[in-house]
Amino acid sequence: MVSASVLSADMLNLKEEIKRIETSGIEMLHFDVMDGIFVDNISYGLPVLEQVRKTTNLILDVHLMITDPLRYVNRFAECGADYISFHIESESDTSETLRTIRKSGVKTALAIKPATPAEAVFEYLDQLDMVLVMTVEPGFGGQSFIPETVEKIRIIRKKINSMELDIRVEVDGGINDSTSGIVLNAGADTLVSGSYLFKSENMGEAARKLRCLGI
Ligand code: DX5
Ligand code: ZN
Repeated sequence: MVSASVLSADMLNLKEEIKRIETSGIEMLHFDVMDGIFVDNISYGLPVLEQVRKTTNLILDVHLMITDPLRYVNRFAECGADYISFHIESESDTSETLRTIRKSGVKTALAIKPATPAEAVFEYLDQLDMVLVMTVEPGFGGQSFIPETVEKIRIIRKKINSMELDIRVEVDGGINDSTSGIVLNAGADTLVSGSYLFKSENMGEAARKLRCLGI
């Protein structure tokens, strides 16, 4: 599945950009929330998500890059998130945050930064619908893919398969037509892509290229 990161969209034409995602056959919309503390950037938040929910039936994949996600997950759920991911490196209690997300009827995802080992997510797998492996340092779109993250995707996919769990492995950062094949082959099944998709002339064609490069 492809998840289009609207961080790279034309914000003043967000409605048209969302139409462009829909008509490209892309299934998910990736919504990056940054608080300027957990990462060195500030993006957008609850009121924008609420408007986005009103305009689309795309799966809303909310990525919280914030210091205290537990404080906000219920409100992101109320605004229409389908998945909420937050960082294991944040200050909130991981299990409690996952339980709170599930209780609100939203799918759970746990994100790890490039320096965090794959094994860190193992103890939470039974509470997860998705693992988000960051393939760049979180904070900005348009960065280059970090190749050292590939082995972590492989380790996490192997563990999920060995436990016979149904959990997505999502990758985020620097995903384009030359890196998607690498991550798909390592076991990722959900590809976040921002600058590559939004800079393309034909987003549908670009999304097809992302999907087709796997095994
Ligand atoms: C970065 C964000 C990403 C970003 C990806 O912190 O989490 O979702 O938008 O952008 P690209 O695909 O341009 O690397
Ligand atoms: Zn993201």
